[in-house]
Amino acid sequence: MRDTRTAQPASQHIARTQAGRLQNAGASTGLVDSGARMSVRGVSKSYTTDRGVVKQVLASVSFDVAPEEFVAIVGPSGAGKTTLLRALAGLMPPTSGEVYFDGSPVTAPPERLALVFQDYSRSLMPWMTVEKNVTLPLRRKKLAKEVQKRLSSEALAAVGLGDIGTHYPWQLSGGMQQRVAIARAIAYQPDALLMDEPFASVDAQTRSDLEDLILALKKQYRMTIVVVTHDIDEAVYMSDRVIVLSGSPTSVRQVVDVALGTHRDQLVTKSLPEFVELRNTVLTAVRRPVGDPTA
Ligand SMILES: Nc1ncnc2c1ncn2[C@@H]1O[C@H](COP(=O)(O)OP(=O)(O)O)[C@@H](O)[C@H]1O
Ligand SMILES: [Mg+2]
Repeated sequence: MRDTRTAQPASQHIARTQAGRLQNAGASTGLVDSGARMSVRGVSKSYTTDRGVVKQVLASVSFDVAPEEFVAIVGPSGAGKTTLLRALAGLMPPTSGEVYFDGSPVTAPPERLALVFQDYSRSLMPWMTVEKNVTLPLRRKKLAKEVQKRLSSEALAAVGLGDIGTHYPWQLSGGMQQRVAIARAIAYQPDALLMDEPFASVDAQTRSDLEDLILALKKQYRMTIVVVTHDIDEAVYMSDRVIVLSGSPTSVRQVVDVALGTHRDQLVTKSLPEFVELRNTVLTAVRRPVGDPTA
């Protein structure tokens, strides 16, 4: 059944956002006004394999993401995390159930949403300079060339890559390439940012730098963020809420509120007894075997 609370189109919000964008395009800060609300309502997904076998991956997954909330989705490999993110992004129609973006049913990628994939080497165009890569999605917005250029240089500066616009992605380290992918998402000024295991391919130091970068960008740009990760520490460290997926087919097993405040610090936060407790709660939920009566 459709939830009327989420099915209400937030046309006022959209109008306000678009006005903000236009105004923003001429301003110097690049700040956006607010994040989007997302809702997943009873989403199921089955795939038919090459041999004609139907495999159910998601079974009635439901959750909401509030404006400017940071939600982490964790679950074992193959649980359907990427499938769920693709449904949220409007890249894949669910077999049943609905996804809403600010109250509107998602049937195609929402214009105010940006995605960062795990595999930066495939998401950046190797024949384009960094600046061209960053401005590529901006074409959809039909912004003037100078505005595109400014948004690109602001976004690159925000991720600490102020002076590499003329480089090519293959001239950069993995961590830098992922920063470019993040800059591309930021330059687009999304109201919602979805990330699929964004730091899985970088070394541990770069990973914690990028976690802090995303937290800083979230504060600066006021986006709603959904990140898929299988790193439980990362999920708790970054988010306001952790959604634990499990089972086969996959559904929401547990939702854990992360009341660690808005200021996070790699050393201080991760040493807090509350952090350790939350991490253990999430880990226990992830590890609980399928079919466990307490699941
Ligand atoms: N396009 C597809 N066709 C058939 N099966 C798929 C397809 N995409 C994913 N799957 C299967 O669905 C399951 C979940 O995949 P995925 O969403 O990528 O999981 P996760 O991201 O949690 O590792 C896997 O068993 C995978 O093989
Ligand atoms: Mg995946």
